Amino acid sequence: MRRRLGRECLYTPSCRLGLYVALRHWCPPGGRILMSPVNDDVIFFVVLAAGLRPVQAPLDPRDGTIDLAAVPEATWRGLSAVLTTNLYGNPDPAPALRARCDASGIPLIEDAAHAIGSVHTDGRPVGAVGDASVFSLSKHAGAGTGGFLSFADPALRPRLESSRDELLRPSRFASEALYALRPYAEAGVRGLRLVRAARTALRVLGAEERAEIRMPLRAAALARALEPAPAPGLDRLDPWVRVDMHPYRIAPGALRLRRTTRLLERLDDRLARHAAGTAALLGALPAPLSPGKSAGRPQPLFRVPLLVADRDAAIAALARRRITVGYLYDPPLDAYAGEEFTDPSPEPGPAAWFARHALPVDPCRAAEIAPALAALPVTPVRPPHRATAREGRDGG
Ligand SMILES: Cc1ncc(COP(=O)(O)O)c(C=O)c1O
Repeated sequence: MRRRLGRECLYTPSCRLGLYVALRHWCPPGGRILMSPVNDDVIFFVVLAAGLRPVQAPLDPRDGTIDLAAVPEATWRGLSAVLTTNLYGNPDPAPALRARCDASGIPLIEDAAHAIGSVHTDGRPVGAVGDASVFSLSKHAGAGTGGFLSFADPALRPRLESSRDELLRPSRFASEALYALRPYAEAGVRGLRLVRAARTALRVLGAEERAEIRMPLRAAALARALEPAPAPGLDRLDPWVRVDMHPYRIAPGALRLRRTTRLLERLDDRLARHAAGTAALLGALPAPLSPGKSAGRPQPLFRVPLLVADRDAAIAALARRRITVGYLYDPPLDAYAGEEFTDPSPEPGPAAWFARHALPVDPCRAAEIAPALAALPVTPVRPPHRATAREGRDGG
C-alpha cells in the first residue's frame, strides 16, 4: 500500500477503525464535518463517535460524488473538516476539495474504502490527496477484515500507531475461528455440516443485522449514547459502529493476517478484473451512466452504479438469477437520521435521486449481469439537470 500510494500506511483491523483514529487525530471533537449523505450508515456513526456533527453535502446526481460548486459559502465557514466517500469507486473531486480545505485551514480525509485503485483526474491515486485516507480490505481485496490508514506526514506514524493500539481489543480464538468460517457462510454453502456453524458465524460477526438497507436508528438510545460530549467514543457507539463487522477493532490473529496478505498479493489481478468489468457494464446499458472514468482510463469500480428507473424491480429480477445487489444507501443520511443528528444537505434532491436510482452491480460478474440486464425490462434514466455542472472536472 505504501508503494501504491507513495505515502505512509498503517494497518488497521477495519476501515472504520482507521477512520475513527484519523478523525480523533485531525478533527477536534465538537467540530463539523462535511460528508456525503449517500454513504454507509456505519460511517455516520463513526463520525458521531468521534464527537463531530455531520454536515451533509450536496451531490452530483450523475455519480453520487460531492458537488463542490453547490456547497454554500456559509457552510464552509462552519466546517472543521471534509470527508470524501468516493462512492463505488468514483472519485470525489479531492484535488479541488483539497485546495478549498487548504484555503480554510481544515483537513481533508479521504474514505477510499470503495476506491482502492481509482485515480483522480490529475492522475494521483484516490487516498493520496487528503491529509489522511482510509481503505477497507473487505471490498476489492475480499479479505472480510482489515484496512489501512494512510497519511502524508510520516512523522505522525508513532502517534497514530499508539492511538490505534489503544483502541484494539485482544485477538480471541473464537473470533479467528469465526473468521475462518465466514467465506463458507457467505458462499451460502448448502448441505454441508458446516452450514449451522457458518450461519452462527455470520450472526456473531454482525453480518446479518440488517433487515432493511439502513440499520434501525434507535434515536432515543442514540441520543443517550451521545450525551457525554464532546466525544462519546467507540464503546458507547459500539452497537451502531459494529454492524456488518463485530470484530472491527479486534487485533488480527495469524490466520487473518496470512489470508489478508495472500489476498493483497493478488490485488492487481482483482483490480484488473474490476476495471474490465466496469468497462463491459458501462457498455451494457445505454448512457447515461456514472462516468466511471478518470484520466482517460476505466476505473476499477467496486460497484458500477447503473442508473435505472425501477431499482427495486431490477434488484428482484437479478435476485431470481442468483445475483445479489448490496451496498445500497437509500435513503440518504439526512433523511435517515434527521436534524437531531445531522445538518441536512442544502440541496437534498440530487442525492435522493441518485440513491433511489443507482443499481450498484458487481463488475466482476459483468459476464452474467450484462446479459441478465439485456433480458429484463430495465429502463435507464437520465439524472436531473444540475445548474452547477462540473465541466472541467471530469470532462463534463
Ligand atoms: C464507504 C465506506 N467506508 C467505509 C466502510 C467500512 O469499511 P470496513 O467494513 O472495513 O470497516 C464501508 C463499509 O462498507 C463503506 O461502504
